[in-house]
Amino acid sequence: MKFSKKIKTFTPTLIVFTLFLFSCQNDKELTEVQIPVKSTFIKESQFPDPSLVKTTHGPFDMEGLPFKYDAIPSFITPSNAELHYSRHHLDYANALNKLMDQLGLQQHNIETILKSAETSNSNLISNAGGFYNHNLYWKSISKKANTLPNAILTDRLTKDFGSLDEFKNKFKKTANELIASGWVWLIYNEGTLSIVATQNNDTPFNNSLYKGGLPLLTIDLWEHAYYPTYQNNKEQYINEFINHIDWDFVSSKLESHIE
Ligand SMILES: [Fe+2]
Repeated sequence: MKFSKKIKTFTPTLIVFTLFLFSCQNDKELTEVQIPVKSTFIKESQFPDPSLVKTTHGPFDMEGLPFKYDAIPSFITPSNAELHYSRHHLDYANALNKLMDQLGLQQHNIETILKSAETSNSNLISNAGGFYNHNLYWKSISKKANTLPNAILTDRLTKDFGSLDEFKNKFKKTANELIASGWVWLIYNEGTLSIVATQNNDTPFNNSLYKGGLPLLTIDLWEHAYYPTYQNNKEQYINEFINHIDWDFVSSKLESHIE
């Protein structure tokens, strides 16, 4: 008996299934042919490479991301990552470059700019902070969940917080209790690790209590950082951030400072 089956093509997904059934005299002669899925049928990522994001002019440029937009779906949706990096972060970088022209600033070290900025210059503090803070934020995030600090940092965390878990609990609590937009940091200052919260785009550099400290990691607690992925569940965002801290980066940063 001869028969055939018509296969529909679903163009939105670009996946084509084709099934050939050969006519035969009996079931024993029936041959099933597997059609391999070609790589060209697999939809390419719709998200551009973050390294393509550049400032329009000026001394400061985007540093790139340590991962692609769609690399950590367990932490951030690709569209949220792209929005955050290619819009919000880039806007701060462009605004900072514009201010450099307007203020005639010759200093191109972002930490020095933040340390020496007049407290009255809120525009410079906001945009320079927005640029610096985001750079550290992206570096604080790992594609791999549950990495661990090295031995030196583990000892320091144990000395100053009791244990790694105690640090995480205190960091979570501080982040959850931060009202409105801001950042929570782990800083190192004169042999001691501390958790610090700053409002808006302030940094430990322009906070009178902590300006001598070295920022080791930071979490962005502006709504644009988590709302598209977690909506109003800020606590879940904070928990997932802690699960994705890049402890290799943080350990290296501390080691290079104390050596
Ligand atoms: Fe942000």
